[in-house]
Amino acid sequence: EGNNKASRGALVVLEGLDRSGKSSQCSRLVPFLEGQGISAELWRFPDRTTNVGQMISAYLTNTSQLDDHTIHLLFSANRWEKRSLMESKLKTGTTLIVDRYSYSGVAFSSAKGLDFEWCKVPEIGLPAPDVVVYLDISPEKAAERGGYGGERYEKLEFQKKVADWYKVLHDVSWKDVDACQPIEDVEKQLQEIVLDCVTECRKGSPFPPCG
Ligand code: TMP
Ligand code: MG
Repeated sequence: EGNNKASRGALVVLEGLDRSGKSSQCSRLVPFLEGQGISAELWRFPDRTTNVGQMISAYLTNTSQLDDHTIHLLFSANRWEKRSLMESKLKTGTTLIVDRYSYSGVAFSSAKGLDFEWCKVPEIGLPAPDVVVYLDISPEKAAERGGYGGERYEKLEFQKKVADWYKVLHDVSWKDVDACQPIEDVEKQLQEIVLDCVTECRKGSPFPPCG
């Protein structure tokens, strides 16, 4: 049934602060879905494998300096360069579990002081997620987890600002999951949310409008 050409895949986005557990949860979700007979792939943004992604990576590791607007547009370009592949995967029935998306783009750049409305514009027209799951953790608790890798944004004071912008972006449709629970509990809740979403998409609900 996972390869049923009549049904489309779901676009599932995980968002949250650095160290909220997104990456571990995303990599647990994909094999779980596959075990349920659902075709699924793990994606992440930034995708550091492309040319644009390498520029982003150099910026994040402080090996290059870029104007704040410029790096904002590169993060967005990095999503745009994957758009057609993303859409064709979804159309042919593959569910995409995406570690960060446009919301990270807007929250992180707004936290630097860029205009919130300006930050949203380059995201208009990208495929809209079917569900956004927010892994909820306070900046302080996230910092206590350790393992901030020393990348550009991995600092408590900055993460506090990002958390405030995530609150501004937060929408009633978002599914919040308490990221401070034991990892297995977070995993169970995510599985339920994602299975519901996949089922909804299989019923043939239309692909959401862009923007
Ligand atoms: P990562 O740790 O998930 O690889 O993300 C790298 C950093 O980039 C992280 O601190 C969040 C930030 N970021 C943006 O500033 N804008 C974006 O559009 C994305 C996807 C991530
Ligand atoms: Mg990181």
